[in-house]
Amino acid sequence: DGVRRRDFINIAAVGAAGVGGVATLLPLISQMAPSADVLAESSTEVDISAIEPGQAIKAVFRKQPLFIKRLTRSEIEAANAIEADSLRDPESLGDRTKEGHEDVLVTMGVCTHLGCVPLGAAEGEIKGEFGGYFCPCHGSHYDTAGRIRKGPAPTNLEVPEYEFTSDTVIRVG
Ligand code: FES
Repeated sequence: DGVRRRDFINIAAVGAAGVGGVATLLPLISQMAPSADVLAESSTEVDISAIEPGQAIKAVFRKQPLFIKRLTRSEIEAANAIEADSLRDPESLGDRTKEGHEDVLVTMGVCTHLGCVPLGAAEGEIKGEFGGYFCPCHGSHYDTAGRIRKGPAPTNLEVPEYEFTSDTVIRVG
């Protein structure tokens, strides 16, 4: 776990809705504790400008992991190559992203089976058979749109409510 954590770019956002501050880069957890109750009620703003195609970051939203990934062209193509209706939890990539920002995938980092944190958001982690996320607890494979494709998870990784407040900042919650 120590090795994995070092690889993450962890972003914990501070500030309640309306404060208007862009998320501050923090080393996670320790700084989270004092304001956990406040965070539970608040929205989270994250500056996504530094995320390169093919990279993801882990943030925290309401005390849970949040994955924000910028998809490469081939990851977008892979997601769009399959008919959404044929999926266990039928959603297209377009259903799960914002118009004009199809390359930005925002999901909770919580497996919908029993709540483990899937792999695939950090550099070097395995992404599973469908190139998105892989939950090592019981082997759920999520595709490049974060949709369940194989394994026991019943539904896609949850897309929280969020919006773009500018081209490079999203507000989650
Ligand atoms: Fe992810 Fe069971 S918790 S597969």
